[in-house]
Amino acid sequence: MDNKKSRICPVEHSGSLDLKIRRWMQNPQKILAPYIKEGMTVLELGCGPGFFTFDIAQMVGTSGRVIAADLQQGMLEKIRLKMKNSELKGQITLHRCTENTIGISDNIDFIFLFYMVHEVSDKKLLFNEIELLLNENGSIFIVEPPFHVSQKAFEEMICIAEGEGLRVVERPKLFLNKTALLKKH
Ligand SMILES: C[S@@+](CC[C@H](N)C(=O)[O-])C[C@H]1O[C@@H](n2cnc3c(N)ncnc32)[C@H](O)[C@@H]1O
Repeated sequence: MDNKKSRICPVEHSGSLDLKIRRWMQNPQKILAPYIKEGMTVLELGCGPGFFTFDIAQMVGTSGRVIAADLQQGMLEKIRLKMKNSELKGQITLHRCTENTIGISDNIDFIFLFYMVHEVSDKKLLFNEIELLLNENGSIFIVEPPFHVSQKAFEEMICIAEGEGLRVVERPKLFLNKTALLKKH
């Protein structure tokens, strides 16, 4: 079944994405340190409740910015709540996407898609827009889950991305997960 409701992680399940124990398995700073530098503009697409958002904000520093974007307003509200008491709030912009467009026009240095691409029905449209947003030297980091997404389905995603002017430059190691770092052609 591939209707929107079954594909998209509901806001009611967002607590499981924000567990403290997850930091032990998927430490945001360790995963992202090789790619995110101070001053960068980062797009975190499908940010969910913001498990990675505040670490990214810290890494880009006061001269950079993270745009935390999601389809579901409820996910963005989770982040908005956490922002209230955070000294990093000035570095975070919340943005609501629609099903068919990200809907921003900024120049982006790094686009992070963690456990998100398999939820998108029109991947060609997604990668087309991503390619347009990305700076010439920018990169895209895709991570997909171990069991939920097969290797075949992952390689099909990458093929679609390649068809939209992107190329794989690295397959970063992240225990059990499927990953690809891409750049423009
Ligand atoms: C499984 S959650 C992962 C959240 C977060 N990246 C994490 O790892 O904690 C996937 C998120 O992608 C969002 N999403 C799905 N399709 C989207 C789209 N077309 N545009 C923006 N966000 C989308 C969902 O609303 C959900 O919050």
